[in-house]
Amino acid sequence: MTATKGLEGIVATTSSISSIVDGVLTYRGYDIDDLAANASFEEVAYLLWYGKLPTKSELDGLLKQLGEYAPIPAQVIEQIKLFPKNTNSMAALRTAVSSLALYDESANDMTPEANLRKAVKLQAQLPTIVAAFARIRKGLEPVAPKAGVSVAYNFLYMLTGQEPDQVAVKALDQALVLHADHELNASTFAARVTVATLSDIYSGVTSAIAALKGPLHGGANEAVMVMLEEIGSSANVEPYINAKLAAREKIMGFGHRVYKNGDPRAKHLQKMSRELGKLTGNMELYEMSVKIEEIVTGQKGLKPNVDFYSASVYTTLNIERDLFTPIFAISRVSGWTAHILEQYENNRLIRPRAEYTGAVSQKVVPIDQRS
Ligand code: ACO
Repeated sequence: MTATKGLEGIVATTSSISSIVDGVLTYRGYDIDDLAANASFEEVAYLLWYGKLPTKSELDGLLKQLGEYAPIPAQVIEQIKLFPKNTNSMAALRTAVSSLALYDESANDMTPEANLRKAVKLQAQLPTIVAAFARIRKGLEPVAPKAGVSVAYNFLYMLTGQEPDQVAVKALDQALVLHADHELNASTFAARVTVATLSDIYSGVTSAIAALKGPLHGGANEAVMVMLEEIGSSANVEPYINAKLAAREKIMGFGHRVYKNGDPRAKHLQKMSRELGKLTGNMELYEMSVKIEEIVTGQKGLKPNVDFYSASVYTTLNIERDLFTPIFAISRVSGWTAHILEQYENNRLIRPRAEYTGAVSQKVVPIDQRS
């Protein structure tokens, strides 16, 4: 038995949800470029769950359902109020999502109908949790979700308590489309491993959030912003990046296990970053990002991934840096739950083997004789 480090190149399941072939990402056979230009996030979530784009009435039905499910149990709000104010936002999200299960009487109902209903419920409730946490830690009361509006609109509304700007809603909606699913990435795999034991959907999504939190995965978007803040200005990009590369440190937001010629989502986020920069009259973050890209791609051949330009996009939308990864989760929960439903449909326990490299033929020595 020979291990493949990081399971690189291993095909671990079949799936009809999303695919990456020759650098092209598709959801249910639709190119991400087409969806980013022509579909809303709710249409994409519907597509991931049901395998087809919704009709107008099906979309209205989903929006109605999302509105009904968006309020979170009062007990979960009370619990968030007890979190330390400076706690990690992904740790807060992970804990609150795990708690949702305690107040859902159907949490362990494993019928396909109940699991689909819980998928929509989780999609509706994650934005409410993130916005509530963001306000509560500042001593503000959470804002109740609105019914009949998009996920992007509702999230921005709950975050600020004000009607969001249409440009911001459109940008966030497109970012949510781009992050919705991504084949067998680390967090989706974690979700599938968890539910393949026939554990419940809340456990699967909690596992996925835990995996997304890390800086090698979803946590990279926040790490990119930390880097941009450290760099501070365009003039400082070259010495900063050169020093990092000379020290063989990783530049966050670059590289990908699957894409070697560029992440197809990055160009959309780059365009969004440029347009939002122009609109707000502040191009500094965009220009710094472009300079970083020129150096990293020039010297290492590494291209930006989905997280790189997300950082300047979200910052230009006035979103706090540590909410970037929770926003990723708000989108990706659509993909996680679609994969969980697919796993339940044709389940087999996921239990690979390990190549043992430890000591052999050991004998227990009585404790008083051990050195
Ligand atoms: N900066 C500098 N060098 C890099 C980077 C980077 N961002 N990414 C990879 N490399 C180098 C590695 O140092 C390594 O070089 P070596 O062979 O000389 O040691 C080589 O490229 C291969 O890198 P690995 O880390 O082995 O590649 P792997 O496929 O395991 O990792 C990963 C992919 C985790 C995305 C990696 O590129 C990375 O750490 N990037 C930065 C973090 C990041 O942006 N993560 C978000 C990914 S997208 C997402 O999850 C949503």
